Amino acid sequence: MLYTSLGNTGLKISQIGIGTWQFGDRWWGWERGYGEEDAVNAVRKAVELGVNFIDTAEIYGGGLSERIVGKAVRELREQVVIATKIWPTHSTYNGVIKACERSLRRLGIKYIDLYQIHWPNPIIPISQTMKAMEYLVKQGKISYIGVSNFSLKQLVKAQECLKNEQIVSNQVKYNMIERDAEKELLPYAEKERITIIAYSPLAQGLLTGKYNLDNIPKDVVRRLNILFDKPNLEALQNLIQLLKEVGSKYGKTPGQVALNWLIKRREVIAIPGVKNPIQAEQNARAGDFRLNEEDIKILTEAVEGIRINKRFSKLKMVKRLITG
Ligand SMILES: NC(=O)c1ccc[n+]([C@@H]2O[C@H](COP(=O)([O-])OP(=O)(O)OC[C@H]3O[C@@H](n4cnc5c(N)ncnc54)[C@H](OP(=O)(O)O)[C@@H]3O)[C@@H](O)[C@H]2O)c1
Repeated sequence: MLYTSLGNTGLKISQIGIGTWQFGDRWWGWERGYGEEDAVNAVRKAVELGVNFIDTAEIYGGGLSERIVGKAVRELREQVVIATKIWPTHSTYNGVIKACERSLRRLGIKYIDLYQIHWPNPIIPISQTMKAMEYLVKQGKISYIGVSNFSLKQLVKAQECLKNEQIVSNQVKYNMIERDAEKELLPYAEKERITIIAYSPLAQGLLTGKYNLDNIPKDVVRRLNILFDKPNLEALQNLIQLLKEVGSKYGKTPGQVALNWLIKRREVIAIPGVKNPIQAEQNARAGDFRLNEEDIKILTEAVEGIRINKRFSKLKMVKRLITG
């Protein structure tokens, strides 16, 4: 397992973490093919293999994800770094403090290692939210402050609101296909020693190579993800084929190659979401090999040549929700 520091804190975190949006969420197909036992075992398998960064959120499964994470790590608290998130509707001063108490209770822990603001809230002043975050640090309820889905401008503004603390991370969408973070956020984060936490690092399963025009996932999450729209899925098959070819040289799966490419090119941490211990194990082993320069170059050229449609029309979105 490869490790890095969380921002400039010196706290050691694994470059492959584990994402838990899938836990308790019917939009992902919860209790249709996987359930609580799979989820608990997935976390424990990941930790056994050296993963120490676990990402959850108060919104996931209406709190069930936090409960499951808490259950899974009850005996392992000191080995893991627990990151959870506050939903934007709770980002008033008192809202933050109360939400944190609820998360601590569900997780069954005394402090949260990394408390992240899930999305910016355009209505509630960020200064209020950050004041509450600093209060929570002082109280020892959280160790570090992070944000998620913040643009560079929002990140800088949020940092300016903090008196004594620093923002140590920004969690954003980042995978081989969706690389907007490379434009502004990554260069800034590298300069300022802010960790970029890459969510959807497998493009919601697409980069594992199991989806194609004959096998399109039917769950709500991916019906709403334009990458799974037929023309895009078709356009991405060459990349998937290449991931398979490269992977076969190293005895690795396409998903492992995609994760390896992500964490070896830039010092980000990837948090693939999982549904069971088999997926957790495969992902945890994604950093165990080194793609050679030639393969990195071939893959990078391939992703740079990809042209896909990035936005659904409103009509298409409604149609996909209704008809799948
Ligand atoms: N901050 C935010 O706003 C935000 C947004 C999204 C996600 N996140 C966080 O980031 C995490 C990851 O993102 P994500 O869940 O959107 O996407 P992802 O990690 O790219 O994809 C997860 C999906 O890929 C499939 N998968 C995972 N590992 C696999 C393996 N080894 N082999 C085959 N299939 C595998 C699973 O679905 P199937 O088996 O059904 O294909 C899984 O549900 C989330 O769990 C959450 O913690 C945060």
